[in-house]
Amino acid sequence: MNRAKHIAIIMDGNGRWAELSGKKRVKGHEAGAKVVKEITTYCSNNKDIERLTLYAFSTENWKRPRLEVEFLMKLLEKYLKNELPIYLKNNVRFEPIGDIRAFSKSLQKTIKDVKEKTAHCDGLVQSLALNYGSQDEMLRAVNKIRNCEDDITQEMLGNALDCKHSVDLLIRTGGDHRLSNFLLWQAAYAELFFTDTLWPDFSTSELEKIIKNFTKIERRFGGLK
Ligand code: IPE
Ligand code: IPE
Ligand code: MG
Repeated sequence: MNRAKHIAIIMDGNGRWAELSGKKRVKGHEAGAKVVKEITTYCSNNKDIERLTLYAFSTENWKRPRLEVEFLMKLLEKYLKNELPIYLKNNVRFEPIGDIRAFSKSLQKTIKDVKEKTAHCDGLVQSLALNYGSQDEMLRAVNKIRNCEDDITQEMLGNALDCKHSVDLLIRTGGDHRLSNFLLWQAAYAELFFTDTLWPDFSTSELEKIIKNFTKIERRFGGLK
């Protein structure tokens, strides 16, 4: 049976969720942050799951209206500050991915602080993808290693990425069937699950069902069974 050691989620549909009930888009982001908490706690209690990587803000999301971007930055800072004791209680290590240099100094400090304070935790690793884009991650990785004398190997490039771990199960909520620049290298052999559920309505019971289906899939990695 497959183990979903590394689960990655494209948490999409916050804005539509809010608009459906006549609320402002940002209310959807607030509701979405609560689901991040629930799903992280669930994964931290599931011994099969080692890593949970969540797409929170893409390199393309800067194109949104300034007020929405500002709201998301504030929400992220608030989330991380509130979450620190919960990470520690649940033995969760926080390992952000993405280029956080684009964020305010204060937000960068909060991100680094939570990362350092949870560095000793050896339970679930929760990675939030923050100002993350797979193409940007690959470019930064190539630039890091391009001056080495030998030819670049697959291993060298893989290890120069922010996220060095292949994904087993990749889920996208919100009904669209695309990867939106998320973990393109790491998801090379991931099993993909798309659900119409909007992220604020996603639940641990839906995740459980998806994991159950995942465990039954025959993964061949290009070989034969
Ligand atoms: C995902 O929800 C959260 C972020 C991209 C920050 P959206 O904000 O994309 O919600 P929809 O897709 O517009 O409904
Ligand atoms: C993907 O959602 C990014 C995150 C969930 C953070 P988007 O809403 O930005 O993706 P597109 O624009 O629909 O592809
Ligand atoms: Mg969206």
